[in-house]
Amino acid sequence: MREIPIAAGQARYAVHVGRGAVARLGPLLAGRPFVVVSSPPVWRRHGERVRAALGVAPAAVTLFRDAERHKTAGTVQRLHDAFLRAGLARDGRVVAVGGGVVGDVAGFAAATYMRGVDWVGVPTTLLSMVDSSVGGKVGVNHPAAKNLVGAFHQPRAVVEDTAFLDTLPARERQSGAYEILKCAILADPPLFASLRKGPPALRGWADGPLEDAVAAAVRIKGEVVAADEREGDRRRLLNLGHTFGHALEAVTAYARFTHGEAVGWGLVAAAALARRRGALSEGDFTAIAEAVDALGPRPPIRDLRAKAVLDALGRDKKVKDGRLVFVLPVGIGRAVIETVSADEAKAAYTEIVARDPARRGKRRSR
Ligand SMILES: NC(=O)c1ccc[n+]([C@@H]2O[C@H](COP(=O)([O-])OP(=O)(O)OC[C@H]3O[C@@H](n4cnc5c(N)ncnc54)[C@H](O)[C@@H]3O)[C@@H](O)[C@H]2O)c1
Ligand SMILES: [Zn+2]
Repeated sequence: MREIPIAAGQARYAVHVGRGAVARLGPLLAGRPFVVVSSPPVWRRHGERVRAALGVAPAAVTLFRDAERHKTAGTVQRLHDAFLRAGLARDGRVVAVGGGVVGDVAGFAAATYMRGVDWVGVPTTLLSMVDSSVGGKVGVNHPAAKNLVGAFHQPRAVVEDTAFLDTLPARERQSGAYEILKCAILADPPLFASLRKGPPALRGWADGPLEDAVAAAVRIKGEVVAADEREGDRRRLLNLGHTFGHALEAVTAYARFTHGEAVGWGLVAAAALARRRGALSEGDFTAIAEAVDALGPRPPIRDLRAKAVLDALGRDKKVKDGRLVFVLPVGIGRAVIETVSADEAKAAYTEIVARDPARRGKRRSR
């Protein structure tokens, strides 16, 4: 079991990582009323274990369907209704058991109920363990944009039981693995080396290495968030791979790629950009591209309109004086923030399209 301390702004809390970590919930919640928020698929698989770990009965268990389209203000209102019905007061707590959608919505409901009640995160996907549950960003989508409405509301504790991952579909697991790889490229050469040796999507990894990888990613995110709780340059480093990643998600209406898969493509694109300007060695570029590929296959990009992807880049809020702001890897374990021209971005995109195995397959068959 690992316990990683996080310091963000005034908040201090621990992330408990390990198989069996759910047992920490009882002591963490003792003495205060709380409600549990989860989703039907997560609660069906893990509700019994969570209930047993809680020790005392929650004031209510509220489930909502955790598809991205339900990550809305309407769902938050329904949660507030449920908190009221359960008699939750200012000293009450919200326990969010689920992936990033459950955490973001339940955390935002906690941030806004009676001007803020405490919450505890119990992430059940790999992505939410290493990313969304650390850092205090909570919120919902707006018809005009994803994650447009939200707040910073740090949890009181985060409990990450890797046993939850036993039921996670391979593709969701792979999605989280790309975020771990991102952390490794940003700041952790040993983690990078262990990911390169691991099986695709980290499936079948023994508990030890899996816990090490999750804990390392949490620590890296925690360090960045500690240095910079809000969106300063430091925290922006976490956007490595996300500029192209967000563009790919947007042009496919969030339907083709998991978030991590899009980030996987984005990591190769950012590495290509850095290599093209001589900031990343050929060897490190190849290592990054191979590490991304080793996590498993990603949906194709070759059939997307390049112009649409490049136009979407400019819409990703990351434009400065007509140039695009990018996080560029400059080695394994180090990245910098730089502006690049539209031409450079286009060249890098052309390069990753050429790496699309679907496209390589097509060429071969000609
Ligand atoms: N707040 C942040 O800083 C931050 C950071 C990154 C992502 N996010 C948000 O996180 C969301 C994505 O989160 P996610 O990738 O965890 O996806 P998710 O919450 O959509 O969950 C993915 C799927 O896995 C299922 N699931 C969850 N746990 C399971 C388990 N243990 N076994 C089987 N199935 C399980 C869910 O029911 C769902 O169908 C997005 O809305 C994104 O905007 C937030
Ligand atoms: Zn991400």
